Amino acid sequence: MKFKVKPNNLPYNRVFNFAAGPAALPLEVLQQIQDELFNWQDTGVSLMELSHRSKQFMQLAEASEQLIRDLLAVPSNYKVLFLGGSARVHFSMIPMNILGGKRTADYIDTGFWSKIAITEAQKYCTVNTAISSSEDNIPPESRWQLTPNAAYVYYTANETIDGIEFQHIPQCAHAPLVSDMTSNFLAYPLDVSKFGIIFAGTQKNIGIGGLSVVIIRDDLLDKAMPHTPMAYDYRLQAEKKSLLTTPPTFPWYVTYLMLQWIKAQGGLNAMAEINQRKAKKLYQVIDNSALYQNAIHAECRSRMNVVFTLADSALDSRFLEEAGQRGLQYLKGHRCKGGMRASIYNGVSEQGVDNLIEFMQQFEQNA
Ligand SMILES: Cc1ncc(COP(=O)(O)O)c(C=O)c1O
Repeated sequence: MKFKVKPNNLPYNRVFNFAAGPAALPLEVLQQIQDELFNWQDTGVSLMELSHRSKQFMQLAEASEQLIRDLLAVPSNYKVLFLGGSARVHFSMIPMNILGGKRTADYIDTGFWSKIAITEAQKYCTVNTAISSSEDNIPPESRWQLTPNAAYVYYTANETIDGIEFQHIPQCAHAPLVSDMTSNFLAYPLDVSKFGIIFAGTQKNIGIGGLSVVIIRDDLLDKAMPHTPMAYDYRLQAEKKSLLTTPPTFPWYVTYLMLQWIKAQGGLNAMAEINQRKAKKLYQVIDNSALYQNAIHAECRSRMNVVFTLADSALDSRFLEEAGQRGLQYLKGHRCKGGMRASIYNGVSEQGVDNLIEFMQQFEQNA
């Protein structure tokens, strides 16, 4: 990528990356990968060339699990799995693994990703869409039409494309709560004990594509349909410590480094403080502007994906071009929504957000 001037004095002529995923990784993590690439932990080979059954990789696997357990204080009656494949795999693996003979599951439809999860689940069960997002963005639980005998209640904690996020854990005592946390996992602390299953693709806040993390309560481990693929049978994978099949070792390693990095930042309380500060100042600029707009209610606004439109969409391409010239990249909104989207996950520095804000304010003055 070529810039007229070196925009940010970032090493390697890098840019501030606001992509929705795969997304920004901290430079320290990339540098460690570079340092260790050819000979990982004195094995004489790259991690990519090393058996997943080697002592060193198995130690990495154990340490990764422990890091997640420590960061989230995961209760002992939950398993933590690292499974190959994308987040979408779990749209079908959740019903296959935990319907347990029940016919209905409750789904909360808050946008793009919950709609896809619903379509996928309909292959396996009757989906009761307990509520659909409306002008309320996330309608209150008092309006949800839940099914008394549902196998589980499913919601998308952060709608990456719509820019809508649950900032609380819904109260659903009648069935296990299942959450897609692909785009806000490990960005803030979380009470795992409120959930039956949490799953997340790693490519936003904790790594790169190709891996997903599943946290599952023990009592849900014995309900898989007989034709559940063995590689995605949560119980079989739990019994084998996620090493039943050859896992994507490199993405797992990147996640391991990200988990260490989060710990080094001070853990999830510190991460949350930074993430909330980044989001707050960006929304403030939008709210105080005549040019930028975000119509989502404050209590439902995503702290990870800040979507906004320009009052005149004819300015969009100039906005993107001038942002790019300053090393502020990948801000274009999702193709189905238009406008802009600044994804500000763990790996996006506060400096990046400050530079974006400065640019947005100057752009508005000159528009
Ligand atoms: C909330 C959410 N769920 C699921 C997915 C699907 O992820 P994958 O492409 O890893 O299947 C995404 C991808 O952006 C997402 O943001």
